Amino acid sequence: MIDRRSFFVLGLVSGMPPRRLPPADPFTLGVASGDPAPDGFVLWTRLAPVPMAEDGHGGMPKETVPVQWEVAADPSCEHVVRRGTEDAAREWAHSVHVEVTGLEPGREYWYRFRAGPHVSPVGRARTAPAIGVPGGAATLALTSCANYQHGYFTAYARVAEERPDLIVHLGDYIYEYAKGEHACPGGNVRDHEGHESRTLADYRRRHALYKTDPDLRAAHAVAPWVSVMDDHEVTNNWMSLVPSARRAAAFRAYYEHMPLRSDARPKGPRIRLYRRLRWGDLLTLHMLDTRQYRDPLPCGPGFQECPQAAKKDRTITGADQERWLLDGFRGSGARWDLIGQQVFFGHRGRGDDIGEEVVRQDAWDGYSGSRTRVTRGWMDAGVRNAVVLTGDVHSHWAGDLALDYDDPGSPVVGTELAVTSVTSGGDGHDGDRARDALLARNPHLRFHLRRRGYILLKIDQAALTALFKTLPYVRLPGAPVTVASTFVIADRVPGLVRQP
Ligand SMILES: [Fe+2]
Repeated sequence: MIDRRSFFVLGLVSGMPPRRLPPADPFTLGVASGDPAPDGFVLWTRLAPVPMAEDGHGGMPKETVPVQWEVAADPSCEHVVRRGTEDAAREWAHSVHVEVTGLEPGREYWYRFRAGPHVSPVGRARTAPAIGVPGGAATLALTSCANYQHGYFTAYARVAEERPDLIVHLGDYIYEYAKGEHACPGGNVRDHEGHESRTLADYRRRHALYKTDPDLRAAHAVAPWVSVMDDHEVTNNWMSLVPSARRAAAFRAYYEHMPLRSDARPKGPRIRLYRRLRWGDLLTLHMLDTRQYRDPLPCGPGFQECPQAAKKDRTITGADQERWLLDGFRGSGARWDLIGQQVFFGHRGRGDDIGEEVVRQDAWDGYSGSRTRVTRGWMDAGVRNAVVLTGDVHSHWAGDLALDYDDPGSPVVGTELAVTSVTSGGDGHDGDRARDALLARNPHLRFHLRRRGYILLKIDQAALTALFKTLPYVRLPGAPVTVASTFVIADRVPGLVRQP
């Protein structure tokens, strides 16, 4: 008998893989970090020498495989400050989640993994600044909606080049659609691997397919991610009506492929994704789950006309999450409170893309009571600057938030920044008459652009600057990125100011 440590050393010294690990490189899906705290972060990888293996197990054997990890103070990993070993078990698709602690606040680190003779790429992470230390600045990249079939993940590559402190992903990280299904204008540019994802093996293969994209791997390796799901990680516009076995499969695969802490490990058809991160005294980031706890629509999912939905007591967060959020506003004390969530928050009115007489239901407009309670919650708590971060809509949007959208005199009390898609919808376009009309009749909406890209937020004590970045195309690889528009929110002055 040899213990695990000597087994490992034996494997390394002889240059031979441990008996249980296939000879091919198991780090095909890359490395990631996430959910930074002042003393550490999560490290993630998954062993998958054959990422698209039919059974969803990535070409791995049944056995548990020990994976060594190390965190270093330098990019060449010469000055290792933490190391350990974590088991990669088949029941979690040989994924590895390490919650590193004991690090210094507010600085960069680098990390890598080793399994047998195989060494992973090096990733960069960083810890959050210590709470109670005033000052500081942060750069955040916002992303959402990356349909693999609709284009190349150039936006992720450009995000990686920005080297932000944090990458916030607001959902639709994968799409469940079958090969060729829901083509974008001009047709899909690459294919999903098969039928619509429904089983655990399906979702595991879909996540693996996405992570075979080098641009996505680059974005994961460059900075810690803070991510939440929206609908397509399960199925289009899903609610609690989706069979629990399918939800359980989708949640499990999501956890297995993302740098999440153990309290996000799903329990069957339930996953706890709403959570809070602090970034010194500068930021509190409240990440919400608006999908899992919402009241089902009385008229079914989607955008159907639904007069009953005007009922004020419908909730999009559920009571527990709403209480948690309002408590979080009261306890924050940060310069900026960012609310990261999935669907459009501000009043958009009658949906331009769904007919003039229909209020879009898959948004806070369908849950206006929830919206009023949350808005009043941050006002009553004395939140200094409230900024809602939104995904889902496949367009850049910027808008001012009010408490009462029916009262034209209702003051601006916050801001919404909605990020466009990485690819979903294909190349997009610049002009959009329907939305120009919507902007003209809704004074709260300030900006809209149907191009692909991401938002870069530069935040300091004095201001939050939002750079709306766009790509001219995603149907071909390698597009350059440009800043389409820049808005500034000054400290204690809610509302957007467009920069020349
Ligand atoms: Fe989407």
